[in-house]
Amino acid sequence: MCALAHVCVVLLLFKSILNCDAQIRYSIQEELKTGSLVGNIAQDLGLDLKRLRSGRARIVTGENIQYTQLHADKGTLIVNERIDREQLCGDVTPCSFTFEILLENPMELHPVTIEVLDVNDNAPTFQNNHLEFEISESAALGSRFVLESADDADVGQNDLQNYVLTSNEYFVLKQHVNPDGSKYAEMVLQKSLDREEQPRLSLKLLAVDDGGVPQKSGTVIIDVTVLDANDNAPVFNQSVYKATVMENAPKETYVITVKAIDADYGANNIITYYFSDRNSPLADLFRITDSGAIYIKGDVDYEKVKKYELRIDAKDQGGLTDSSKVIIEVTDVNDNAPDISVMSFTSPVSEDSPPGTTIGIINVKDLDSGDNGQVSCKIEQNAPFKIKSNLRNYYTLVTDSVLDREIVSEYNITVVATDGGIPPLSAKKTFSLKVSDVNDNAPVFPQSLYSAFLPENNSPGVSVLTLIAKDPDENQNARVSYIVEDSSIGGSPISQYVSVNVETGVIQAVRSFDYEQIKELIFVVKAQDGGSPPLSSNVTVKILIQDQNDNPPQVLYPVQTGGSVVAEMVPRSAEVGYLVTKVVAVDVDSGQNAWLSYKLQKATDRALFEVGLQNGEIRTIRQVTDKDAVKQRLTVIVEDNGQPSRSATVIVNVAVADSFPEVLSEFTDSTHDKEYNDNLTFYLVLALAVVSFLFITCLVVIISVKIYRWRQSRILYHSSLPVIPYYPPRYSDTLGTGTLQHVYNYEVCRTTDSRKSDCKFGRAASQNVLVMDPSSTGTMQRMQGEKSILDEPDSPLEVSCPYLTYFCVTCPLW
Ligand SMILES: *[C@@H]1O[C@H](CO)[C@@H](O)[C@H](O)[C@H]1NC(C)=O
Ligand SMILES: *[C@@H]1O[C@H](CO)[C@@H](O)[C@H](O)[C@H]1NC(C)=O
Ligand SMILES: *[C@@H]1O[C@H](CO)[C@@H](O)[C@H](O)[C@H]1NC(C)=O
Repeated sequence: MCALAHVCVVLLLFKSILNCDAQIRYSIQEELKTGSLVGNIAQDLGLDLKRLRSGRARIVTGENIQYTQLHADKGTLIVNERIDREQLCGDVTPCSFTFEILLENPMELHPVTIEVLDVNDNAPTFQNNHLEFEISESAALGSRFVLESADDADVGQNDLQNYVLTSNEYFVLKQHVNPDGSKYAEMVLQKSLDREEQPRLSLKLLAVDDGGVPQKSGTVIIDVTVLDANDNAPVFNQSVYKATVMENAPKETYVITVKAIDADYGANNIITYYFSDRNSPLADLFRITDSGAIYIKGDVDYEKVKKYELRIDAKDQGGLTDSSKVIIEVTDVNDNAPDISVMSFTSPVSEDSPPGTTIGIINVKDLDSGDNGQVSCKIEQNAPFKIKSNLRNYYTLVTDSVLDREIVSEYNITVVATDGGIPPLSAKKTFSLKVSDVNDNAPVFPQSLYSAFLPENNSPGVSVLTLIAKDPDENQNARVSYIVEDSSIGGSPISQYVSVNVETGVIQAVRSFDYEQIKELIFVVKAQDGGSPPLSSNVTVKILIQDQNDNPPQVLYPVQTGGSVVAEMVPRSAEVGYLVTKVVAVDVDSGQNAWLSYKLQKATDRALFEVGLQNGEIRTIRQVTDKDAVKQRLTVIVEDNGQPSRSATVIVNVAVADSFPEVLSEFTDSTHDKEYNDNLTFYLVLALAVVSFLFITCLVVIISVKIYRWRQSRILYHSSLPVIPYYPPRYSDTLGTGTLQHVYNYEVCRTTDSRKSDCKFGRAASQNVLVMDPSSTGTMQRMQGEKSILDEPDSPLEVSCPYLTYFCVTCPLW
């Protein structure tokens, strides 16, 4: 009993709470080192060591005997093997094992119970050291998320006591106890998650026991992935986008890219862009891609719209939107040429318009802007015009100098309008300007004097020449009328001579002209235009009448009288070259037509006489002999030089005799030239007879009268021949009775020397005058000086000029 008490004491020593028991109980901590003392058995059993040794004390029976060993020598019980309480007992508490110690001699059996005390040798552990949660950001507050429990093999205080979550703002931890006493925790959302702010959370959950020092703990990492919720609308990164685009840019030209940003993730971040108003006409001009790039789709014309405003929406998959504005400014391109429009234009313009006269007003427009629309105008040609700009875009076309229709009657004025673009565009407008006429030019004759020849004997009405005056003016101002200025020619108005066709300027002879009367006509023709007032100019017209060979030569001497015979006396003593007489003829024509030549046509004796071709002098060409007939008859032909020539013949009777009676007898002999034909002879004889009879009758009468008169006057007329008074040539017209129709003055040869025919065709009117009266039988008187041959009583037939012998057998009618 004592022993038991002792054990109790021992027990009390070791463990005060142990009841004094018959059994020996030891409490040891688990995990003691091998050899560690468990208890002094000998002492506790009250046995001495000898007994132990003699009793051969040993541990028998019982479970888990391997853990302890009895050290009989010392009487101690020591740890034989590591004791793991958790292995030995698990969760069971208290944990103990029991064995018996056997003693022989006497046999004693002592039960020993060893309680293994827990030592905090196990930490709480989680099965996974990593936990993952995916929580939508839209999760409601208060949402709970159960966390994995941790295990702790220890028991009691050393078992899991508490969970701890690293501090964070979103979750709090809430711990619960299962019915079996185990503890678990859950996270409770106390603040909304925002993926956009914090897409991931990493938390640490600690499980701790309370096993004194050191506390042991286990951790688990909790990764929270915040799942996206479409809680963000797209947001444009600019509220207004600005872009410029060139007008006429081709289709598919890139304009700008708009960008909206959606804070969400994934599908919620897929943004599409579109025009807010899909029906807007702008949708035909631009297109926007899903990615926000804007391209040109239609025609952009600066002149139509200078600025576009597009409203653009961005929308994410979740249907959240934002909108923005794109302002597209169109830049001008010089694609419009200036446009010229005519406000007014005056044509024709009068040529007397002063410089500066406005011809037209034009308006020039260019739809482009800036330099592209800055237009300047100029005139293309080098014309006397200029263009002025007084108002913006308005230009006036004015004359720059005096116009002259006669130089330029029409202008094509091309106005060129050019803008300031690069390259510049231009437009042209041509103005066809006519210059209207003003009567500023008088008609002009190209010559200052017109002369024309008109052959005489023209037929009346013949055109002589045409006057043409030019008037550079136009129409009525250039319509020239020709008018003869009044003047008179020889006392009659010019209109009786010529007329001018008013329109054609043809000058016509009104009548037939006779060169022998009028040799030239000089008059003034006026050319006058039809302007108002009219202008005119004068020209002198000279019409020269041309001579025609219309007059045959007229033989003045010897006078060809019908019945009388005039004979020239040639003395038989005449030398060779003796000037018998001179045929004098005139031609009233002029020039060649009056240039006379003399030829011997017939002669009784051709060998005796010759006629001077130019002067008509008849001379002997050989010595006159006695054999030569008294009566010589020469036919001289006088021709003018006209074309065709005209001629006259004259018969010259020459008496080769020394005395007048000889001649007379010869001539009264009624000798007839054998050359004369019978007819002529007959008439001649007849005429002679008649004439003789008349002569005698006249003679008787005249003598009677003359004798009667003579008795009263002092002038006694010896001869019975009639006297023809001398009339000075100027008096020819005043001859009163009109019996003399023509008076001719001519010059005859006058020489003192009969051998020489020194003919001086000087003025001899006062010396020699022949008066001829063809209507009468023609009595010729030659007057020499102041002395009439009739004044010489002794030789009425002798003339002082020996070569001129006057012989009159004819009795004048009076
Ligand atoms: C907006 O986005 C566009 C396109 O990415 C970019 O070019 C532009 O610079 C952005 N604007 C701002 C203000 O960041
Ligand atoms: C003006 O132009 C017209 C038409 O082209 C042409 O017939 C005429 O001859 C021109 N006139 C001048 C003076 O160039
Ligand atoms: C033309 O002549 C007439 C008369 O001879 C004269 O009155 C007139 O002034 C002259 N005209 C001109 C333009 O010379």
